[in-house]
Amino acid sequence: MPANVSRIRSMLPIAGAGGGRASMTCRHRCSNQCDQAPPNTSNNPYFGDIVAAGASRRTVLLGGGAAFAVAGSSVAAAEPAAAGGGRPSKRSKYVYDFSSIPARSADCDQVDVPRGFRWEPLLRWGDPILPGAPRFDFEHQTARAQERQFGYNCDYVGLVRTGRRTGLLSVNHEYTNEDLMFGVTDYAKLSDEQLRIAMAAHGLSVVEVRKDGKRWRARLGSRHNRRYTASTPFRLDGPAAGDPLVRTSADPKGRTALGTFNNCSGGTTPWGTTLHGEENIHGYFNVTSVPEDQQQAYERYGFSGTGRGWERVDPRFDTGQEPNEPNRHGWIVEIDPTDPRSTPRKHTAMGRFKHEGANVIIDEGGHAVAYMGDDEKFEYMYKFVSRDKYRKRDRQHNLTLLSEGDLYVAKFTGDGFEDGVSDGTGQWLALVKDGASMVADMTVAEVLVNVRTAADRLGATKMDRPEDVDINPVNGRVYGALTNNDERSPSQIDEANPRALNKHGQIIEITPHKGDHTSTRCTWKLVLIAGDPDDPATYFNGYDKSEVTSISCPDNVAFDGRGDLWISTDGNKLGHNDGFFLMPLKGRDKGKLQRFLNVPTGAEACGPLIVDDATVFCAVQHPGEIDGATPENPASQFPYERNRQPRPSVIQVWKER
Ligand code: FEO
Ligand code: CA
Ligand code: CA
Repeated sequence: MPANVSRIRSMLPIAGAGGGRASMTCRHRCSNQCDQAPPNTSNNPYFGDIVAAGASRRTVLLGGGAAFAVAGSSVAAAEPAAAGGGRPSKRSKYVYDFSSIPARSADCDQVDVPRGFRWEPLLRWGDPILPGAPRFDFEHQTARAQERQFGYNCDYVGLVRTGRRTGLLSVNHEYTNEDLMFGVTDYAKLSDEQLRIAMAAHGLSVVEVRKDGKRWRARLGSRHNRRYTASTPFRLDGPAAGDPLVRTSADPKGRTALGTFNNCSGGTTPWGTTLHGEENIHGYFNVTSVPEDQQQAYERYGFSGTGRGWERVDPRFDTGQEPNEPNRHGWIVEIDPTDPRSTPRKHTAMGRFKHEGANVIIDEGGHAVAYMGDDEKFEYMYKFVSRDKYRKRDRQHNLTLLSEGDLYVAKFTGDGFEDGVSDGTGQWLALVKDGASMVADMTVAEVLVNVRTAADRLGATKMDRPEDVDINPVNGRVYGALTNNDERSPSQIDEANPRALNKHGQIIEITPHKGDHTSTRCTWKLVLIAGDPDDPATYFNGYDKSEVTSISCPDNVAFDGRGDLWISTDGNKLGHNDGFFLMPLKGRDKGKLQRFLNVPTGAEACGPLIVDDATVFCAVQHPGEIDGATPENPASQFPYERNRQPRPSVIQVWKER
């Protein structure tokens, strides 16, 4: 397929003058979470409570712009490529050598890649991945078919290598859009079969892939392929498994939870499994009643809505019937793609919250350390340290590493804005340590099931929506995407979250004390304060802002073989389409942000996954998710096929010459 196959523009108005996500996205993805008051009502102190005259200090930091600046609201249809581009080299075969591309207006239904690169879909919603699965038929979908086909709204993409040119791709399917799948807006009007299709289109896919020349090919029908849906049995493991809080009438022992859903991002472990976050789980339950002793817990996690109608085909989604069912979701799940018959697990030791994802490193001492974000306004960043140590060549043992360990939450302290940099020191506050609860009046199981409440009590730092947190394999530092928080008020800023009404987000770099990821001490710095470079509130790790591209709402982070930071975005609020960006972290180009990829109108750019510095995988999630779009009047036709319907797809980008 040619790179720029479609140049049509959506005929539908784009949500919000400044871009951002459509209300259709908010409804399907997170049950309009942003319209509710943030559930963190704890009184942890903010920097602004402690330090007087925060506004003037902020002004100093930003070189004299608007205090508490609401970053610029440029809605230019497109912007020029960053001056000087990247570091293109005609001879280089590496994906990090490219010339930065211009931004695209948010109504543009097009994939853009740099000159000399090509892209094509690898896996599309409905592709028949299991043996015997039928071909995708938009007009005649069935649950039985969807259970064996690639799911909807792909997000995380991870590769477990099985050879130099072979591997198993694990992909998340975060949520479904019934408006675009069925032309039905009201969940109450979905047929039972449509409800079952939606449940089957959630979850995860594992697909065998093989490299053929410069391109990877999906092996449809391979016996290694697998689907996990909203109904697949998962084993609950760790300290909260079996606790009364996770028992239901169908599972009185509290050991087997059905299904995974709203899987956002994830990670690949050093022992060859993949991790998947369960994120906006509150949106799936019809909260017909709330148990008295769980009232506060339900509120703290935002359970209050009417769900998606799933309780009509599976009563466990009615809290009146199964009040503990919500406690069985919101975990990190681990699957073993190399064993399609293995039982997937939910790790209670890693805590229950709105998990974006988890990424693991083996510390020098041998412990597995996982970093995690809880994606909601004013929520926290977490770290898990395994009790046991990694053993080379003992995979069975390593498969148990995330089942027991210590859990921490982050507290960040600024060193003052006067130095012109948002930076300071940090502490990891123990929630669970050596198998014991570190929070007064809460058992270990209570801490793990209601981590948010436990973390409130320790005084953790309220962050601007912590998303993906990943470890740079080259410099050993940790990078966390903080996507935005338009509800932070001037009195609530701190040095790690330095903007009020933060529309564009930032990226925090965490340096473990003496390089030890098990240490409770760290230092930190914001390496990116996103937005329009002309906005004085932005910061690009000290680089000349006249030579960088704009960016808004960083969501996922990844690294190439040189340790450069790759960033995906979700919900650009500058009026542009989302995309992928690269920011070197060292050398003369440190902080020089370049734009690599634009995704089509309505879509979010998920991943990124960079393989061998030769291929970039992007999950193009919710293409055409624009208010008013229907199957009869789609806003996007990505990936530009005969039926003209948008199909969420994983694409690959490679260098052709
Ligand atoms: Fe699904 Fe945190 O975005
Ligand atoms: Ca500082
Ligand atoms: Ca995300």
